[in-house]
Amino acid sequence: MRSIMKQTQTKRIVLGLTGGIAAYKTAELARLLVKQNVDVQVAMTEAACRFITPATMQALSGRPVLVNQWDATENSMAHISASRAADAIVIAPATADFIAKLALGLAGDLLSTLCLARDCPLLVAPAMNKQMWENPATQRNIAQLIADGVTILGPACGVQACGEEGMGRMLEAEELARDILAFFQPKLLSGVKVLLTAGPTYEAIDAVRGITNRSSGKMGYAVAQAALELGADVILISGPTALSKPQGAQVEDVTSAAEMFDAVKQHVADADIFIGVAAVADYRAAQVSEQKIKKGEGKLTLELTPNPDILAYVAGLPKPPFCVGFAAESENLREYAEAKRRAKKIPLLAANLAQQAIGSDANELILFDDAGEHVLPHSDKLTLARALLRHAVKLYQQGKQQ
Ligand code: PMT
Repeated sequence: MRSIMKQTQTKRIVLGLTGGIAAYKTAELARLLVKQNVDVQVAMTEAACRFITPATMQALSGRPVLVNQWDATENSMAHISASRAADAIVIAPATADFIAKLALGLAGDLLSTLCLARDCPLLVAPAMNKQMWENPATQRNIAQLIADGVTILGPACGVQACGEEGMGRMLEAEELARDILAFFQPKLLSGVKVLLTAGPTYEAIDAVRGITNRSSGKMGYAVAQAALELGADVILISGPTALSKPQGAQVEDVTSAAEMFDAVKQHVADADIFIGVAAVADYRAAQVSEQKIKKGEGKLTLELTPNPDILAYVAGLPKPPFCVGFAAESENLREYAEAKRRAKKIPLLAANLAQQAIGSDANELILFDDAGEHVLPHSDKLTLARALLRHAVKLYQQGKQQ
């Protein structure tokens, strides 16, 4: 057994804060990035220091914060050296004023100088009142930044610090961390179509009752997100979940296994990779009552009929896409999972313990392929999904070369 939970190479970013109330979210962003092994050098404008202290950012990033370009105790060439060492500069929050400076190429303080003197990508997370965001001047500046190759993260719509509601809120720290890490992923699946299923299915018994399971969709949505990060075209066939859709994926909502099967059949001809993460109900009611079944005196027997096995159907096609299956078992995980992989004739299967995996934010996977088993240790589902996809891509590419 060997572990393939290879972390992506450590990335270095300069995290620039300008003077906006959303600076408090950047403290959490710094913490999340450091936790993900990102080397964070914080740089702040003087206005940013009025919203959050450099001491806080220093404690969270583990490095002295760059603020003043004239401070002799700081590196006198910080405006050059900080960006040279960085894989990207991220400005969060980016005020309307700072965005205007970037668009004009002004360099009146350390952070703007650093941006102008950079030789690495720039990512900007706007944060401002909705009128400021909608102002034609700001929109012109944003368009200019996009034309200059700058990546704009957000903003989001919602209640603002001023009490108004609309576009201009900075993305949440978790969303920014996800987008920044996604930015660094190599686009190994560019031009590749990934079709996947996620979540539970719901099999109606009558007008109000049905058979379902506790799958939340979190694992499947994380796999969709990881595929998007690698540049894939993602079609996600989703059973009923409470999750927000992964941005950039084509999502088709379905309810029953039969609907999921129809949606898969509709898209599978174009798919290069198929990943079955959904917890598809194995059985459905043989007869669905249009009306609510009334309570009777005695026992009620429910006749069930098997659902089609979507993964087995896809894997059995004359020219199947590269298939990845999942197996949720409550006991004998290794034995049952490998038996399932062989029965369904699929090159890769991710096995997990149902009681640990279902509904939770973190999980542990064992991958089975022709070479044996590979353990992905306990981690959050997105980290696991990224590792699973790195492994799947390797096998997919090997398969194409044969
Ligand atoms: O959604 P979460 O709360 O995050 O939980 C994640 C998960 C536990 C649901 C997920 O990690 C998982 O294990 N998914 C597969 C669950 C399952 O139903 O396994 P299975 O052993 O019954 O099915 C094996 C494979 O065949 C799966 O890829 C499944 O999608 C597929 N299948 C099963 C039955 C069927 N009728 N059609 C299918 O395509």
